[in-house]
Amino acid sequence: STVKNATLLLLGRAAVRAHALLGDPAARVVGMGSAHDPYAEYERVRRAGVLVRSRLGLYLTASHEVCSSLLRDPGFGVLPPNALAPVDSTAHAGGRRLVNPVEESFLARNPPDHTRLRRLVTPWFTPRGLRAQAATVERVVHAHLDEVAARGTFDLVGDFAARVPIQVITELLGVPNADHASFARWGSALVNAIDGVRDMGEMRALHTALREFDAFLDDLIAFRRREPGDDAVSALVSREDLSREDLVATTGLLLVAGFETTVNLIGNAVLAVLGDPAVRERLVADPSHADAVVEETLRTDPPVQYTVRVPAESTVIAGTRVPSGTPVMLLLAGANRDPAVFADPHRFDPDRADVREHLAFSSGIHYCLGAGLARMEAAAALRGLFTRFPDLRPAGRVRRRPSRVIRGAAHFPVTTGTVPAHATHRHP
Ligand code: HEM
Repeated sequence: STVKNATLLLLGRAAVRAHALLGDPAARVVGMGSAHDPYAEYERVRRAGVLVRSRLGLYLTASHEVCSSLLRDPGFGVLPPNALAPVDSTAHAGGRRLVNPVEESFLARNPPDHTRLRRLVTPWFTPRGLRAQAATVERVVHAHLDEVAARGTFDLVGDFAARVPIQVITELLGVPNADHASFARWGSALVNAIDGVRDMGEMRALHTALREFDAFLDDLIAFRRREPGDDAVSALVSREDLSREDLVATTGLLLVAGFETTVNLIGNAVLAVLGDPAVRERLVADPSHADAVVEETLRTDPPVQYTVRVPAESTVIAGTRVPSGTPVMLLLAGANRDPAVFADPHRFDPDRADVREHLAFSSGIHYCLGAGLARMEAAAALRGLFTRFPDLRPAGRVRRRPSRVIRGAAHFPVTTGTVPAHATHRHP
């Protein structure tokens, strides 16, 4: 019955969205293959038209103009949960319904719920809130660099890029004694499931992750009821007007969104730097160049590749009538290479003036709440890495995450290029 419960849970919005794509030739345009180049697929969509209809009746666009206008159009919403298939709300964990923070938080809700819930947590992400985090971010980056420095060869993702955002967001949310290995496991299970689940192993992993994460969030909420601090979770639990589901989903979203994406931004930025000697040379000579490198990475290799919007009413988009309720896939990563906006769009050029037009953080009311924090963390990570290890280089094959919506490395072996102190005795 664990498997049955898991199956029912998976009949959620996102899983169904991906299942609808399986077997559809248009699925190829979102990079279904494992060893894929999604950017070539987005160019195929662009050549096929501004708005392309798949055989199953979904629409796709890689147009910057269409993506940004639909993201800001109040006539379009996020896909409502369970729009395409019913979810069994009796799937319980110890008498409570399991909440999937990716599926049920304000990320996946429309106004007025979206407005009400997002407003509760914005104070932690204002410029002033961010400035208060800058010292934490630097401290966390250097603590993890100290650890990998002692080893010489390490996994850039597992040993560094994943650890920094997990520690930053758990400190920001006031999570005591956070166990990074559990967070990494829960986060990747939840986020990989946005694509749908391929086999029973993944289904079990998702179900286990949801159960453990739900139990963890429940404990955290209970702890902050007993011992309030000045963190975001304490502020949320002090409100009388929040349901348990909203409380769990909001807290869970901040945690998962806070690291599952940033880890990939750091990894993708390092990949870009290691692949381009001129960029590396400049970054090593001038660490303040990190901001521009991060921004151009967001444009050319964004951690979130696409999102979906649905028109409430039948609407004409770029001359095509789209029936109400029909999902439109907005290929953000494709829009970021739209030649109508970006000159020579496939070139990695940290100096381009219009880089901030990219849609890596979406646009409109769902514009990423953590954009400033993500930029700050990734820039600090790059500065730290290339200041301390100017000779950083790959030490093996990069393994990519299987996900299509999330783009990033799962494993990325690197070496600092310096001989660790103990080894110098063997090579005098
Ligand atoms: C929303 C990307 C880091 C919190 C979003 C969306 C995107 C995105 C594309 C909107 C999705 C849509 O419109 O359908 C990213 C990327 C990140 C990142 C690429 C890192 C490189 C963060 C961080 C946080 C965060 C560090 C901190 C907690 C959120 C939240 C939302 C969101 C709460 C929901 C906003 C809403 O629905 O109003 N993010 N994100 N993100 N992000 Fe991020």
